[in-house]
Amino acid sequence: MGAKKLSVVATRRLPEVVETRMSELFDVTLGPDDGPMSREALAAAMRNCDVLVPCLSDHIDGALLAQAGDRLKLIANYGAGVDHIDVATARQRGILVSNTPGVLTDDTADMTLALILAVTRRIPEGLALMQAGTWKGWSPTAMMGGRISGRRLGILGMGRIGQAVARRAAAFGMQVHYHNRHRLRPETEAELEATYWESLDQMVSRVDVMSINCPHTPSTFHLMNARRLKLMKPTAVIVNTSRGEVIDENALTRMLRAGEIAGAGLDVFEHGAEVNPRLRELPNVVLLPHMGSATVEGRIEMGEKVLINIKTFDDGHRLPDLVIPSMQ
Ligand code: DGY
Repeated sequence: MGAKKLSVVATRRLPEVVETRMSELFDVTLGPDDGPMSREALAAAMRNCDVLVPCLSDHIDGALLAQAGDRLKLIANYGAGVDHIDVATARQRGILVSNTPGVLTDDTADMTLALILAVTRRIPEGLALMQAGTWKGWSPTAMMGGRISGRRLGILGMGRIGQAVARRAAAFGMQVHYHNRHRLRPETEAELEATYWESLDQMVSRVDVMSINCPHTPSTFHLMNARRLKLMKPTAVIVNTSRGEVIDENALTRMLRAGEIAGAGLDVFEHGAEVNPRLRELPNVVLLPHMGSATVEGRIEMGEKVLINIKTFDDGHRLPDLVIPSMQ
């Protein structure tokens, strides 16, 4: 492209070092504060910029894309998940979409293990006791949780993050099982010592811990629906660091309340920040505010990926992290 700097709109505030580098390279407009951009502001930005840098709080559907200006050629998403963007319609309108895979794998996998431990070892309950100042000292029968070593972990979605969860879980002595659209190569399966289940139902009914690590797509929406949740052992727990939409949150809440599932660790929710209030009341549930990938290092690396994708586009080359519609 020519010497004129690309006009880039970032919808949210990004780490300072990322904003600084972005402003050096491009003609950047940053959101005035860190709130999500209104739909009107998003539409206006998409009419006037060359590149939009949204994130998961921006719902870029067909109706918004229809209002985009001819200038808009790239949506460089700040994040790996692109379920908030209608990638197929963007592509039809000649708008490329990129994302930031790989750099949040370890952080998200770490948080998955943290949730498994938090739920099974009752860490938030212990913390609450200490913070309330009501702890009376050690007792042989107090705060007994479960041992994760030896338990069967079922990973739903064995992409980068699922595999990173598998490695960590094996180090904790868990037995790894997985269900994925495609079976892993035999050497990867052997390295991870992971057992493949073609039938998700069969895996769900046999594991002690279910971990959701698949993206949200039309085919994974409510994959863990009421019928499938009922297949879980009553002693099993479920953790989700992917997208809330994969689990039927109301059905899960009902079953947790009824003691039909032993516990849950949730970093993501079906309706974003609108968390089912009944979930908040349950002692066997650990809730986190979608912070699975929230490390300083990860957020900066996500920004670097965004910059590389925009720069590569500017230089007229194929984007390293181009999202193709069939991936959704
Ligand atoms: C992503 O990148 O999709 C993550 O969920 C953001 O935290």
